[in-house]
Parts: sequence; structure tokens; C-alpha cells
Amino acid sequence: MGPLNFMDKCFLLAALILIPAAHSLPPPESTESTEPKSVIAHRGASGKLPEHTLEAYTLAYGLGADYIEPDLMLTRDGVPIALHDRTLDATTDVAERFPQRAREDGRFYAIDFDLAEIKQLRVRERVEAASGELRYPERWDNSHRHLHFRIATLEEIIELVQGLNRVTGQSTGIYPEIKFSAWHADQDHDFEAILLDILQRHGYETRDDAVIVQSFEPESLLRLRELGCKLRLVQLISGGRAQDALVTDEGLDHIASYADGIGPSQARIIDDQGKVRPNNLVSAAHQRGLVVHPYTARTDALPAGIDSFEQLLDRILFGAGADGIFTDHPKATRKYLQERSR
Ligand code: G3P
Ligand code: CA
Repeated sequence: MGPLNFMDKCFLLAALILIPAAHSLPPPESTESTEPKSVIAHRGASGKLPEHTLEAYTLAYGLGADYIEPDLMLTRDGVPIALHDRTLDATTDVAERFPQRAREDGRFYAIDFDLAEIKQLRVRERVEAASGELRYPERWDNSHRHLHFRIATLEEIIELVQGLNRVTGQSTGIYPEIKFSAWHADQDHDFEAILLDILQRHGYETRDDAVIVQSFEPESLLRLRELGCKLRLVQLISGGRAQDALVTDEGLDHIASYADGIGPSQARIIDDQGKVRPNNLVSAAHQRGLVVHPYTARTDALPAGIDSFEQLLDRILFGAGADGIFTDHPKATRKYLQERSR
């Protein structure tokens, strides 16, 4: 090689300066957590057994859920029970057992029944109130007349999960949702105080304990903080326009002042073509220290534009980078995560 000319010397000098600089660049900023993804059994293993029953929770536990999710409503005597709706019509035989107890609208409200009455009801697979048809035809079919699934109380669920944790050595958590807090308050029930009392009596007191409390109502979570609650809280965010303000920068800043995470509808993560939305909701939440647990993954109710359950999980958990997911199908969700980690 002959002597270097002026241009060669310039390139060499630039390379000497720039190449080491390139190597010392920090990696691209990522807000994706390296923690394992959480499998949250939505209403128990509700894809396999009637939702919110001890049987569905037990199955979810055995299928490897990290958290068991009960929705909570109150009975007339103020007992938290696992129930999604205000009414009992779609998931129990209340109309046959207490035909005189419907309100003027023809519906049977849980808050009109004491726990002793609630315990007489048979829980069934969810049906459409108007038609009586199964909501999910591939699921439990309600024809097994000798079985008597009952509505569970929160305390029964806690005893079940803590009992199983003791004999298995696992540390499965619970993820209770306060339903209709303002509505209960209108009927003189302090739902947050009732819930906190039960959780504290069962040893759930700090953010390190295996419980996360969720609500769609910011006021409910703020009330928990006002009562001194130190547990982790998750702000649910529906897909409807009414809660759009919660996903703005200001909304997320506010949530970060009282909660530890968000639980957005999966429609806020993927669009109606099944593509991850470019709105950066997950990273915006992560930047504020909030975990993200979208809802709800179902093998038998895939969103538009999604071809398979695995594709749905892949887009939400790895495309968007969410930290966990509410799922009716904990076994299929766990299987997907195990196979992906190989
Ligand atoms: O709590 C997460 C998700 O369950 C919220 O929707 O209506 O099924 O309680 P919902
Ligand atoms: Ca829920």
C-alpha cells in the first residue's frame, strides 16, 4: 500500500473518532419490562367452567394462573360476592327460585338479596338475558342438573387461594375488582372500607402482598388511598370514549399519582385490523412507572383482524409490550408463554 493521500487521512481520522463513539452509544431506550408476563385468570378459568365459581377459580389455580380475578358486588347485608353484573339474571337461576323478587324493570338485583338467599342460587354458564342463549356456545352447556355451582364470597376465594398456596408452595395472587362503587355508595355501602377490612384481616396490607385491586372508577381507587390502602391498585380503562381522558398525558400523570398500573381494554392496544395501535399507550404508561394489564383475551371471541389466540397474545404482550393479560383461558395463555420462551 502506497502513502496515504489527504482524503485517505481524513477518512481514517473520521473512522478513529466515530467508530469507538458508535460502540459506546447507549442501547436504544426501551420501556418494555423484562419481568415475566402475568396470567390473570379472568373470572377464574371462565372459558371452561361457569364464571366466578370456586370451581372455576380452583381450575385456574391448577392451570397456572398468576392471579385469580373476581369481580365484586355487595349483597343487601354488605357481603362482597363474586359477580360481574348488578343483576343475577344472566348467570343464576334466580328467576325460578325467587320469582317475586324482580324490580319493576323485570331484573333481579344482587343488592336486594341477603347472603343466605344468594347462597341458594345455582350458578350457570352465562346466557343472554333477552334470548336465554349461551353467550359462548363452546363453553359449559348448563345441562348438568346434578351439579350445584354457587356464588362465592370474597372470603371464600381468599381462603381457597391462601389454602392452595400453603399446600402447593405457590404464591398465586388475587386481583379483585370493585364493581359500581358510586352505585353502592348511593345505597349507603362503603364498598372500599368493606373490601379493605376483609383484605387486612387476611394479611393483605402492603404493596408486596399478592393482591392487586382494580376499578373503572378513579374515585374508588382514590377512596382506597384515602383510607390508607398501601396495596397495588390498577385503574381500568374501558374502550369507550367516556374514558378517553384517562389515556392522555395528563390522565396518565394523574393515574400515576394514585395507582400502580392500568388495565385498558385491548381495543386501546390493537385496532380493528388487529394491528398494534401507534399510540404508545403501553410505553407512555411504562414511562410513568405503571404496569399494563389489558383485558380480555378469549380463544372463542377474537377481536377483528386477529386470526388466532396466539397472535392476539403476541401482539398485546410482545408487539405492544404489555406486562400481563386478563384471560378467560389461563391454560392456553400459559402454554403460549412457555412455548414462546423456548
Ligand atoms: O377487570 C378487567 C376486566 O374484567 C374488565 O372488564 O367487564 O369483564 O369486568 P369486565
Ligand atoms: Ca373484571
